[in-house]
Amino acid sequence: MASIPCFIANWKMNKTVTETASYLSDFIGKYAELSDHPPQVIIAPSFTSLSIMANTLKEQGSKIALAAQNLHFEPSGAFTGEISAEMLCAAGCDYVIIGHSERRNLFGETDEMVHRKLLSARKAGLIPIICIGESLKDRHTEKTWPRLQGQLSAVLTDDIIKSGLAENISDWLIAYEPVWAIGTGETPEPDEVADVHRQIQGFIENTAGKGSPRILYGGSVSEKNIETFMKPPEIGGVLVGGASLSAETFFKMIALATNGT
Ligand code: 13P
Repeated sequence: MASIPCFIANWKMNKTVTETASYLSDFIGKYAELSDHPPQVIIAPSFTSLSIMANTLKEQGSKIALAAQNLHFEPSGAFTGEISAEMLCAAGCDYVIIGHSERRNLFGETDEMVHRKLLSARKAGLIPIICIGESLKDRHTEKTWPRLQGQLSAVLTDDIIKSGLAENISDWLIAYEPVWAIGTGETPEPDEVADVHRQIQGFIENTAGKGSPRILYGGSVSEKNIETFMKPPEIGGVLVGGASLSAETFFKMIALATNGT
C-alpha cells in the first residue's frame, strides 16, 4: 500500500462560489507550507465550484487535486441536470467520486449504474474514488463482507479489466464508508477498519491482478479520531465530509495525521 496518506474533502451540497474562494484563500497557503513531501489532498466541491477551484489551484501552482462528487454514465445527450465525464475533465477534474452511499440510498443508484459510471470515468481518463459500505442491518446480521464484496464485484467487472481500463488501478482510491458511520458520530474501531481493508485489498488483487488501489476510510472522521484512524498501515487515508467544511479544521486534521510534517 502507498505510504503517502491521502485526505479527501467531500463537501457534499455545501459552499457557494464565494465561500469556495474564501476557503481556498486560507487552505492553499497552509497546505503549501506543510512539507516538501506533502500528503495527497483532494477536494470535491459541488459542480458550481469546480471551475473556480481548478483555476485557483492552477494559478497558485498548488498540488491539491480536484474531484467531482458524481457524473452521469452517458457521454452526452438529453439528460437534464446531469454532467458527463468529458465535462468534468474539461472543468479541470482529475478524480471523481463514484457510488457514494448518499447517491445509492437517496438517488437510487444501483451497482449497475455505479459500474457504468466507472466505465465512463475511466474512458475519459478520470481517476475513480469508489465508495462502498455496509448498512447497519448488514453489520448486525454479519453481512458486512458479502455486501462489500457484492459492491466491488459489480463494479470491477471483466469488461473493465479486459479492456485495460484498470491498468492504473494502483492510482484508484477505494473509500470504505460504513453507511451507519456517515454523519452520525459513530465509527468502527480502527482495527475493524484495517481488517475490512485487508479483505478489500485481497479481493481486488485477486480480481484485477494489476496492483492495489489505496483504501481509505470514511465516516465521522474528525479532529478527535483522525490520529487513531491513521495508525493501521492498511488505512491509506480518509474521506471526510462534515469536518472538511472548515478549512481550519481540515488542515488541522491533516497536520495531526501527518504529525505536523
Ligand atoms: P462525514 O465525515 O460527515 O461522516 O461524511 C463522510 C462521507 O460521507 C464522506 O464522503
